[in-house]
This record gives sequence, structure tokens and C-alpha cells, in this order.
Amino acid sequence: MTRRIAILISGRGSNMATLIDAAKAADFPGSVELVISSHEEAGGLVLAREADVPAVAVPRKAYKGKAAFEAALSEELAKADIDFICLAGFMRVLSPEFVTPWNDRMLNIHPSLLPLFPGLDVHEQALEAGVAVSGCTVHLVTADLDAGPIIGQAAVPVMPSDTPQSLAARVQKAEHRLYPAALAHYLSGKLGGGPSVTQSEGCFLSLR
Ligand code: GRF
Repeated sequence: MTRRIAILISGRGSNMATLIDAAKAADFPGSVELVISSHEEAGGLVLAREADVPAVAVPRKAYKGKAAFEAALSEELAKADIDFICLAGFMRVLSPEFVTPWNDRMLNIHPSLLPLFPGLDVHEQALEAGVAVSGCTVHLVTADLDAGPIIGQAAVPVMPSDTPQSLAARVQKAEHRLYPAALAHYLSGKLGGGPSVTQSEGCFLSLR
């Protein structure tokens, strides 16, 4: 069964763009049918429309409380008959009430090798800790922030000269390789059949 995917963003949408691109392949096990942004001015909305994907803003600030905001998200998802969600730089923490019905049908990408460095200021945390390797993680979303089952990870080296910005740029390149691969792996029912390992351009990618 091929999935009808919505991507939830808040900003520039570079991960979103790689997912849209990957899902154009004839054999990709899903199609991107909708992009929702929690910010009206998100650059990702423009990118999505340029790629002919319907894109709407559901601005968090337009709603009094989280429940009303999430109800508006659910309405957009239902209208487009969405059955799978990818969070890609979506800067809002979703409530357990929203997350639970999407159990096993919602992925997120986080720019660290979880369970290390959940939350914000990830690259600062990594540099502060003095790790020699960092990377990114695609995981299922559960009610516990950045703690759902891991689908795949990509690792990159941390250089002595790194700043949070230079490390972020290296990790983001790895994200663009990991997210489409992990999404396809998961949607194809291959989770648990790994590890499926690839290595190129200084990035080590492993899917569970
Ligand atoms: C990515 O680093 C992702 O891991 C994090 O937010 C960032 C979004 O970047 N959750 P983009 O909007 O996909 O360019």
C-alpha cells in the first residue's frame, strides 16, 4: 500500500525538499500530498508550491491553545486524506493526544545521534561534550520528545575547528541522505531487517 504523506515544517524546508524529490521516484512507497507549516513565512512553503505540492500554513500564533492548533492540523490532514506524517524541522512539541493516533505512522529527523543530545541547541551540546562523531537520527514519534524507536542514523566526524554552524552544515548534508532512505526503508516494511549500511562523502549511514 502506498502512503499519502504530509510533511510538517516550520522553516526553510531543506529536508522537506529532499523528501518531495525522493518520493517522485516511481518505486517510492509513498507520495507527498501536503505540506503544513506552523509559520506563515516559512521558506519551505514556497519550495513546496514550486514542486507542485499543496502547502498550507497553520500558524501556531493564530490559535489560543495547543488543542485548537492541533485540531486545525488534524483538519488539514483529514481533508487531504493523509495517512503518514514526516516532521521535518517542525518546531512545535505535539501533545500525546495528537501523537497517539499516529503511533507507527509519524517520523521525525533530529540532528544528533540520539539518545545523545535531544532537544534544542544540539550542535552546541555536541561540541561542549567533546564528541568525535555526531550525526542525525530518523525515529518514530512518541509522546516522549526525541525518544521514539530509531529507524536509522547517519554519522559524520566532528572536526577540531568546528563551530555549531559548521557542524550543523555537515550534519544537514547527512540528513538529506538519511531521511529519504529511512522513510523508504520504513514504508517498505524493512525495519528490523537491517543493518543496511552505506558509506559515501564522509557520511556513514545505517538503517535498522
Ligand atoms: C534539521 O536540522 C532537522 O534535523 C531539525 O530541524 C532542521 C530543519 O531544517 N529538526 P530544514 O528546515 O529541513 O532545512
